[in-house]
Amino acid sequence: MSKQIAIDGPAGAGKSTIARKVAAELGFIYVDTGAMYRAMALYMLKNGIKAEESDKISATCDSADITIRHENGEQVVFLNGENVNGQIRTEEVGNMASASSVNGDVRRKLVELQQKLASEADVVMDGRDIGTVVLPNANVKVYLTASSRVRAERRFKELTAKGEKCDIDVIEKDIIERDYRDMHREISPLKQADDATLVDSSDMTIDEVAKTIIDLYRKAI
Ligand code: DC
Repeated sequence: MSKQIAIDGPAGAGKSTIARKVAAELGFIYVDTGAMYRAMALYMLKNGIKAEESDKISATCDSADITIRHENGEQVVFLNGENVNGQIRTEEVGNMASASSVNGDVRRKLVELQQKLASEADVVMDGRDIGTVVLPNANVKVYLTASSRVRAERRFKELTAKGEKCDIDVIEKDIIERDYRDMHREISPLKQADDATLVDSSDMTIDEVAKTIIDLYRKAI
């Protein structure tokens, strides 16, 4: 049986940084499920489909062939054969992903792909519904969060380091709106699984959070 670590939590909680580090230390592969929802959103945007056109999203999602490869420990997402890693990190794609991920047909397709990946290798998988829906029997489940202000500050630092002009209050408002959408959608809303450990990273370093998760894993197996 493959080993599974599930990390869920709101946008900007540091899931991907932590999941990548834990995976590297344990020799697991890191599966970023948000990137799959982003690739699907990119496909919708390329086809001129809007967030509110749920019938069109349902009808179109089956022609999006999303596959994952790992190159030098990094996940590469392919959309109909094209490497789209460089196109999925924009705010436009992120907002469309938050909107199109409420669609049941999109979720069914991507959950199937995620479960297949987890059956083939030891994984650290992050997202919103990993502990609740995708990997209900994961060896370790963590719900990673941080206050909206701390998450906005982290995002602000990332963007300003890239030379982008931004306003921290706008970023925080955006984070709160996205949390609300992710937590209140009908299908697979973001919530802490009953058997998940809550980790609040507001006052923790990356190393401390990673160590907490690795310790949980070592105790669990
Ligand atoms: O983690 P992220 O920002 O890359 O995710 C983009 C969007 O995809 C997020 O707003 C919600 C959605 N998502 C989801 O619904 N379920 C997942 N397992 C992962 C992401």
